[in-house]
Amino acid sequence: MDNKTAVIFIKNGPVKIKGKHKLVLPDNKSNQIEYDTAICRCGKSGCLPKCDGSHNN
Ligand code: FES
Repeated sequence: MDNKTAVIFIKNGPVKIKGKHKLVLPDNKSNQIEYDTAICRCGKSGCLPKCDGSHNN
C-alpha cells in the first residue's frame, strides 16, 4: 500500500488530498488528518474550506 500523500485536482470539482496530512485553517486552528480531504475550489460549499458536493448543483 502506498502511504505517500497525493494532491489531486478534480476537473470541475475539489482538490483532493490523499494520505496523511496537516490541514491548517485561516484562523490558525489545525487538525491532523488521517484520511482523504476534499478542498472546495468553487466557493459554493456550505462547509468551506471543505467540499460538500455543492459544485455538482
Ligand atoms: S468544489 Fe465541491 S463544493 Fe466547491
